[in-house]
Amino acid sequence: MKTASLILAITLVTSSQFLRAEEGNSSLEHQMKILAKGTRQLSQQINDPAQQQSSVGLIEDLKKAAQDSKSIDPRMAETVPAADKAKFLADYRAQMDKLSDAFTKIEEAVKAGQYAEAKSLLASVNSIKREGHEKFKQD
Ligand code: HEM
Repeated sequence: MKTASLILAITLVTSSQFLRAEEGNSSLEHQMKILAKGTRQLSQQINDPAQQQSSVGLIEDLKKAAQDSKSIDPRMAETVPAADKAKFLADYRAQMDKLSDAFTKIEEAVKAGQYAEAKSLLASVNSIKREGHEKFKQD
């Protein structure tokens, strides 16, 4: 009986430590992982008419991830001087809006069956990402 309680106690302690470690992964990182996985998948199927519906669904998920990211402050905000913080966060949110707008344009092109156009618009997402990381992501 004592052994069983000990095993239970160890299990509870280790699983709560695991949960804490998961929380340490800021939820912006979680949204970024959704963006990374979704854009990778989209780039593999965007010019396939047979996947039109699936692509629209993926883009909806990407738009949601960009909107959710917009409301989360990046870690770097903690290191920005108080006087500059409002501008830093406004610029960060504007960059996320740029990303959302790009996804909206891509979605319109996919819905219109303009797959080549959609593919070239998707390439432009990379520069929005690069700019976002240069300005708002800590090393
Ligand atoms: C489709 C476009 C994008 C992709 C695929 C992407 C991908 C990623 C990935 C894989 C990470 C690392 C996550 C981790 O460490 O687990 C990351 C982190 C980060 N990204 Fe992006 N990103 C994109 C767009 C953006 C944009 C537009 C911004 C800024 C407006 C941005 C800001 C950040 C920041 C600030 C972090 C670090 C997390 C933090 O500071 O809390 N990303 N991104």
